Amino acid sequence: MAAEVLAALNPRPGGRYVDGTLGGAGHAVQMLAASSPTGRLYGCDRDGVAVECARARLAAEFPGRFEVRRGNFTELADWVPAQSSDGVLLDLGVSSPQLDRAERGFSFQQDGPLDMRMDDRQTLTAADLVNGESAERLATIFWEFGDERESRRIARAIVHDREQRIFSTTRQLAELMERINPRAGKKAHPATKIFQALRIAVNDEIGSLKRGLAGAMTLLRPGGRLAVITFHSLEDRVVKEFGRERSRDYVYQGEVDVPELRTPVVAELKWVSRKAILPGESELRENPRARSAQLRVMEKIGHG
Ligand SMILES: C[S@@+](CC[C@H](N)C(=O)[O-])C[C@H]1O[C@@H](n2cnc3c(N)ncnc32)[C@H](O)[C@@H]1O
Repeated sequence: MAAEVLAALNPRPGGRYVDGTLGGAGHAVQMLAASSPTGRLYGCDRDGVAVECARARLAAEFPGRFEVRRGNFTELADWVPAQSSDGVLLDLGVSSPQLDRAERGFSFQQDGPLDMRMDDRQTLTAADLVNGESAERLATIFWEFGDERESRRIARAIVHDREQRIFSTTRQLAELMERINPRAGKKAHPATKIFQALRIAVNDEIGSLKRGLAGAMTLLRPGGRLAVITFHSLEDRVVKEFGRERSRDYVYQGEVDVPELRTPVVAELKWVSRKAILPGESELRENPRARSAQLRVMEKIGHG
């Protein structure tokens, strides 16, 4: 989505940009290159390995034009000046290096510890959830974060199995999923949704996203843009709902929006494109992992 992000944020010399999910710095490099020679970038990632790689890459190409820190994007407002940014990018989810390294425990295709922490300073791991949570709580995680229709059955099977053993590896969990939830002609591996759900729970991805979106608004200057790339419908729903709420010029109380009971407020942002932007054909050919990516772009409204 590199071209789409650049078109949305339109980096220019002198501009200030924020990348809350640096990863391998692919987007960060593009933003700095497009804003040469004087654009600046603040970047973070909660993954220490990613931050070090990104820092080295940016230092080689754009010395003196960026500041990078390790941390959650929910904390950006603690160190990036308020109302200073022309563009903020959140490219959510896991990176290819995280998925590809067996020892990070994100992948059911490789055997590794049942870990899944983006930030290894955190203590909670996927193994803690799988071995320690009740069947009810596990079922809720699988249902809410994985959209897994068999959530209760799978949760019961895990709790039953763990009477005999502790789940410590990705392979053990993937094998249980294959046993109780066979593929039966489906394209996706039976562990796909369970792994996604555990990863989201371990990293509190939905909570971080909600706080991160609110925080991004304080970083943007009026007219600045927020671009968010999501990888599944749950994330996208959060972004859509955020955009819808903050672009309304009224609030209502209770669950239902009754026009007579609206209170006018000043809208904080507007949609740049109301519809999600999807990756193009050529990107999908080069990078099949982009197939579920969706980009949404909002602009902070200037109130003079
Ligand atoms: C899809 S990758 C980003 C790839 C990056 N845009 C690039 O061009 O290489 C997502 C990255 O976001 C990081 N991440 C996810 N949630 C985060 C959060 N709440 N705070 C900081 N980083 C986060 C992950 O550790 C991962 O490195």
